[in-house]
Amino acid sequence: MKLKNIVPWGRNFDEYRSMFCFSDKDLKGKILSCGDGPASFNAEAKEFGFDVVSIDPIYAFTQDEIKSSIDESSDIIIKQLEKNADNFVWKNIKNPNHLYKIRIDAMKRFLNDFEIGKKEGRYIDVSLPYLSFDDSEFDLALSSHFLFLYSEHLDEEFHLKSILEMLRVAKEVRVFPLITLNGDKSPHLNNIIDKLNQKGYMSEVVVSDYEFQKGGFLMLKITR
Ligand SMILES: C[S@@+](CC[C@H](N)C(=O)[O-])C[C@H]1O[C@@H](n2cnc3c(N)ncnc32)[C@H](O)[C@@H]1O
Repeated sequence: MKLKNIVPWGRNFDEYRSMFCFSDKDLKGKILSCGDGPASFNAEAKEFGFDVVSIDPIYAFTQDEIKSSIDESSDIIIKQLEKNADNFVWKNIKNPNHLYKIRIDAMKRFLNDFEIGKKEGRYIDVSLPYLSFDDSEFDLALSSHFLFLYSEHLDEEFHLKSILEMLRVAKEVRVFPLITLNGDKSPHLNNIIDKLNQKGYMSEVVVSDYEFQKGGFLMLKITR
């Protein structure tokens, strides 16, 4: 994998809390967060005393390499957002400059935590659809802005394999959002829900408190 092929962009703990509708009980469990990239969810969770492990292929790189990649891509991302501003809900996040500040703050927190977190086993270089964890090692497994969002790049088989693997290592899986980068409903969603139901899993589409991409306010909750 080449780091320049990935756009590093990370959200913060409050955004994860809204997206995934965390209860106090959820946060007391052991959480696996897949495709976390440079999000500050893990760093902030650690400060609050919660138990979170993040996996992402970018964790194979050093702090300096990830920082350079963030520095190189941030301006480009903000320009694209300004151009496509109508596709986003500017409410909690007021404008592109506000967004830039929130994202850069989150990524700085991640970078400051990365080397120590790697040593503590909180940032692991592992990629879906295979996870190097034992069965039922976690209470909850999350995917924020990875599964379904990249439906044009990742096919239905990848999605099904990934979610089944997440269900192997965790009692419950939550995925947000359920739309693609273009803002359309993921073409894989209905088939994935059908196939999970056929395998005996319970799937529920939940309205979350978070909406930044217009129409991106639904979260999929799957339990064994
Ligand atoms: C748009 S970012 C989302 C970052 C973070 N979850 C958030 O919501 O702020 C998508 C992340 O998925 C990661 N990714 C790409 N392929 C992956 C794979 N096969 N397994 C796990 N993560 C992957 C990328 O490295 C990137 O960090």
